[in-house]
Amino acid sequence: MAITAPSPMTTTAVDDEKPLVDFRNVAMKFPNGTVALSGVDITVDRGEFVTVVGPSGCGKSTLLRIASGLEQASEGTATVTTDRIGYVFQDATLLAWRDVQRNVELLAELNRRPKAERREKAKAAIDLVGLTGFEKNLPKQLSGGMKMRASLARSLTLDPELFLFDEPFGALDEITRERLNDELIQLFVREGFAGMFITHSVSEAVYLSTRVVVMSGRPGKIVRAFDIPFPMPRDPDIRFTAEFAELVGDVSHALREGHQG
Ligand SMILES: Nc1ncnc2c1ncn2[C@@H]1O[C@H](COP(=O)(O)OP(=O)(O)OP(=O)(O)O)[C@@H](O)[C@H]1O
Ligand SMILES: [Mg+2]
Repeated sequence: MAITAPSPMTTTAVDDEKPLVDFRNVAMKFPNGTVALSGVDITVDRGEFVTVVGPSGCGKSTLLRIASGLEQASEGTATVTTDRIGYVFQDATLLAWRDVQRNVELLAELNRRPKAERREKAKAAIDLVGLTGFEKNLPKQLSGGMKMRASLARSLTLDPELFLFDEPFGALDEITRERLNDELIQLFVREGFAGMFITHSVSEAVYLSTRVVVMSGRPGKIVRAFDIPFPMPRDPDIRFTAEFAELVGDVSHALREGHQG
């Protein structure tokens, strides 16, 4: 699902100087009393790919939902300076009765774009994610990786400036996940969107990101941030370097410390 409507707490003035996402002192307390986030400061600039790691239930999905405008922070300011937001969930959320082409066209259709335009946009997005030739396949005729590609393509039709990813590759085997990581990096470099990504895999976080942010257990706070120095697009062989292993170790360590509170 992609979200185009910003929440009342977001502003949409286009300003290249400002970060796309600027959260200050954001807290989230649900009506049932659960405090999911507390004092969260996070920014995502153009050109950045920021990954958030943290223990289950610490509020990562809540953070993305606030960024998308689906949820409103109960404290602090959550500013998002674009309404071109792509959103990819862990589950591909494709409509079972629509083929790939019509699933990818869905968001443009909901936005009431003319038929010819949505055809064209969907075709280009399908091509970008490497699904050309599978336009007529139903979701049940696709592998898990192909479903995620279709889900990515659907959001790409919105030309997102900010792309939110909530554990999109969590259910895939390691080789498929690595391949999709490389494809996602190619898209990030080519399409120029900023990314906000969630994963439980520390090595995926380090490999994909320009910055990795570590959250504590609930209520989630940011405990550490790591700049990742490797050039984009990533050379797959960096995974086997000592520098990569060291960063993975440092992030894992921070995650463990944050978990213990
Ligand atoms: N609408 C809601 N009402 C009440 N509590 C909620 C609501 N949505 C989420 N929560 C609670 O807020 C906390 C954070 O949830 P969230 O889904 O953001 O965690 P998460 O970090 O994404 O976890 P995971 O890694 O398991 O996906 C959890 O304790 C969850 O039960
Ligand atoms: Mg989650």
